Amino acid sequence: MKGEEFLREYLDWSDLIKMTLAAEPLNAEPLSVAPKGIVVLGMGGSGIVGDVLYSLSTERLETPLTVVKDFRLPRWVDDGWLTLAVSYSGNTVETLACVDEALKRGSQVVVVASGGKLTELSMLKRLPYFRVPSGRTPRSSFPALLLGAVKLLSSLGINLREASELDVVEVFKSEEALKLGDELAGKLLSRLPVFISATKYYPLALRAKDEFNENTKTIAKAEVYPEGFHNDVVGWEGWRDPVSAVIFKERGDRTLEFLKELLAEAGVDTHTYELDGGYLQNVIRWSQVVGIASVNLALRLGIDPKETRFIAKYKEFLRSSDQLE
Ligand code: PA5
Repeated sequence: MKGEEFLREYLDWSDLIKMTLAAEPLNAEPLSVAPKGIVVLGMGGSGIVGDVLYSLSTERLETPLTVVKDFRLPRWVDDGWLTLAVSYSGNTVETLACVDEALKRGSQVVVVASGGKLTELSMLKRLPYFRVPSGRTPRSSFPALLLGAVKLLSSLGINLREASELDVVEVFKSEEALKLGDELAGKLLSRLPVFISATKYYPLALRAKDEFNENTKTIAKAEVYPEGFHNDVVGWEGWRDPVSAVIFKERGDRTLEFLKELLAEAGVDTHTYELDGGYLQNVIRWSQVVGIASVNLALRLGIDPKETRFIAKYKEFLRSSDQLE
């Protein structure tokens, strides 16, 4: 069945990581002048890379890094900024529009893609470029897009990784990832999942939400704390629908421990996963598990996990829409 083949795109992440770490970016040399700031462009399965880079940058960079998931580049991005465009297909309209604007403003543009117009542009203008393997989906290519972006930035002299961290990026063994994914799918059968994390792990909660949206075709939510203590937490006081909370928590995170106590008091069905590796490793390996869980649940429900019909319709709408020209 088609869906089972798609599952393999998540089970092969070990090989995908090895291939990515062995590949080198093109046209990439250390920048002669450090950028004033870095703007990361990308939507959906590619856009998540920007969220991870943002989280890493808050602890590891002196340079501000911001994420744009829109048609328009902020006014303050000028020729002193570095623009990193991430698009699996290389053809995403929002990303292309911002790249066009960034080039007009004289910003240095660098690209991560598997093909499409962004690849053509990179070749034509000799832009620093990292190519990820084609023929997959953006979401099942997450480690390649992310580690490709980290490598590309590093070859420009922008180091977001800790010493030798990339060498040790490992995912679960496929049997273990399958088992964890299968268990999580069973827990979330006929329930709406709310993925919860600390702010730093927002990209993981968002990745999990997006995996369930796209693979299982279900509504899902991502909430981050401590912000959630100022709003979301009250919603749990009066929960009525068949919802489950899935918490991704670093060991020793006392605020998320406290949240667990509140959810227990409210009788919420809660599942907690402890994150105990390095940041990149945690984000990648748990994204693999939620990817597998969402595909597994789709297969149990007889849903095609791979096809994303409404995204395709939206892209068709953009292609045929004059207003966006
Ligand atoms: O997961 C998906 O298929 C989407 O979220 C895409 O990533 C999104 O539409 C952007 O496309 P691309 O990743 O090709 O730039």
